[in-house]
Amino acid sequence: MSLICEPILPNFGAVCSGLDLTQPLSPEEVTQVTDAMDRYGVTVWRNTGMNDEQHVEFSRNFGYLERVPKRPDGQKMRLSCRELFDASNLNLEGEITRDPAAIEYRKGDRLWHTDSAFLEKRTSYSILLAHEVPPPGAGGETWFADARTAYDDLPQETKDRIEDLVGVNSLWWSRKQAGADVAEEEIYERPMARHRIVHTHAGSGRKSLFIAAHTMDIEGMDKAEGRQLIADLIAHVTQPKYTFSHNWQVGDLVIWDNLATMHRGGDYDYNAHKRDMRRTTVREGTEPHLMETGDDPYTALFARSPRSVDINAARDAGR
Ligand code: OGA
Ligand code: MN
Repeated sequence: MSLICEPILPNFGAVCSGLDLTQPLSPEEVTQVTDAMDRYGVTVWRNTGMNDEQHVEFSRNFGYLERVPKRPDGQKMRLSCRELFDASNLNLEGEITRDPAAIEYRKGDRLWHTDSAFLEKRTSYSILLAHEVPPPGAGGETWFADARTAYDDLPQETKDRIEDLVGVNSLWWSRKQAGADVAEEEIYERPMARHRIVHTHAGSGRKSLFIAAHTMDIEGMDKAEGRQLIADLIAHVTQPKYTFSHNWQVGDLVIWDNLATMHRGGDYDYNAHKRDMRRTTVREGTEPHLMETGDDPYTALFARSPRSVDINAARDAGR
């Protein structure tokens, strides 16, 4: 079978079909997918019929999968394996969570961001599969923005100004933006990751902006000036002309390249509708040393989270 791609915006996003993602892909088929991703940044696959295991196996074609932290007390998790990141609004029993910490944690996903920008090892693809979604018209869509075309369109003067700048990224910063009660001094004491805000996207050779709700400061720049620049760049990338939204149906799979896009969750009534979304998260690069199977920095980072932004709290929800 071969891949069919229907573009969503002229340069960005495509609805793809023609491959059975429940089955192992040949190397040629994997290349068809990565070529489509390099070109479009986001690919949408309708009605895939995939289960958890097929989701994880498909994702392994693209590199090492980040693993969510083990629960410190060995309690069970809602999802079957640590390669599945729980992006739902559900507790361990599969009911809508009422835990304020879990709800607060998820609010951060409604800010424009790139996944795991707060880790030193960046994430390439995020691969999100819908298991249960709000009814039609009730929201819960996901928005995507084209960071490469937005970069292309910047005035040359801005490009020159930002070319060598380094962003300082923190998970807690984005959670603070979403309303979590974390003091700024506390954020500076926690792990932060430094990434250049302009980089060349390996698969396409195009330049892209790498900024996110996690980007707190610009290294070496006055704090207020840096934050204004970050806000201006996010506003630039997320203009309507660079964005589209995906309205989910059960079985839909969406792959986005965090190194070429930004994304955010759309609003919906969190307390009224179950939304069961599960994500695999691929680490950038496929060199052997990146493929180790032990705990990764993700685990260590979350093990030290304060309760107000604690991923374990999100998972413990309702207990
Ligand atoms: C994610 C995310 C938004 C959504 O899974 O990384 O940001 O709409 N999700 O579920
Ligand atoms: Mn995300």
